[in-house]
Amino acid sequence: MKTAPVHLSAESCPRVAENGANEYEDYAELRALLQLQNPRTDAPAELSFLIVTQVMELYFTLLRHEWERARAAILDGDVRTAVRTLRRGHGAQDALTGAWEALRTLTPAEFDAFRESFGIASGVQSVQYRHLEFLLGARHPHALAVHERTPDRQAELRAQAEAPSLYDAALRLLHARGFAIPSELLHRDHVIQYVGDDRAVAAWQAVYESEAGHADLVDLADALFDTAERQVRWKQRHLLIVWRAMGDKPGSAGTSGAQWLERGVHRKYFPDLWTLRDGFAA
Ligand code: HEM
Repeated sequence: MKTAPVHLSAESCPRVAENGANEYEDYAELRALLQLQNPRTDAPAELSFLIVTQVMELYFTLLRHEWERARAAILDGDVRTAVRTLRRGHGAQDALTGAWEALRTLTPAEFDAFRESFGIASGVQSVQYRHLEFLLGARHPHALAVHERTPDRQAELRAQAEAPSLYDAALRLLHARGFAIPSELLHRDHVIQYVGDDRAVAAWQAVYESEAGHADLVDLADALFDTAERQVRWKQRHLLIVWRAMGDKPGSAGTSGAQWLERGVHRKYFPDLWTLRDGFAA
């Protein structure tokens, strides 16, 4: 059967630049980006490991941007922007956790085929990930020590560790809105891990009970809780992949591996918002 020639109308033919440039490639800097996927071995599974790592670092970078904006909005008392920004972050967090799917079938034999090629490299050394943990208030003493030999990275992270977390910002907001937050919580040394305080829990309880007047603060607390929960989900998925790909063997950074990760996997970021649930009647 003869087929009729296809005539593309101006409407159906996508536009391209008249000067021959590929503006899509230029905008997304694809020539540079797509030069960066260079596995160190011929092992078939290495490319998926490398690309998932790069994709996750991009999402870490995006989340850092969103959470720093959310923190600034909370400190400014702009709760609407803070909640919208945290919610945009939730989408990125879900995509981040979903990205583990590309590694879900990795076997120990497939992983061992390229594992030696990256030496002692480990996600523990990820600067972007550490920014996220610090923004969530998780300020482990070991976290800055990892970057001792790269003073520029350490200084950048120290600045983040000295700044208020998302939750510190929220406590300042509660205080500004008239809730009783003790001054030692408002002026504490941020480098020291915040472990929760019953007086802050009582303030959140009062926020929830007075919902009519402070519904935006309830939205903020819920958005923060959703953020915390999603971070735990990412870590749980990581741990499952680790168990599957390397069992209980030590990690490349020299930790005990899965056992070390397991200790931190159920961290309750923003602990007061979890304690609140112990006595919460709503
Ligand atoms: C087969 C895949 C993977 C395995 C078996 C694995 C294994 C491990 C292990 C054993 C640790 C503990 C530290 C150590 O001794 O190395 C660790 C930490 C970490 N990994 Fe992975 N990992 C994998 C993939 C990834 C990917 C794709 C990322 C994304 C960037 C990532 C990010 C991290 C982070 C951020 C930490 C530090 C966690 C913390 O400080 O709590 N991992 N990983």
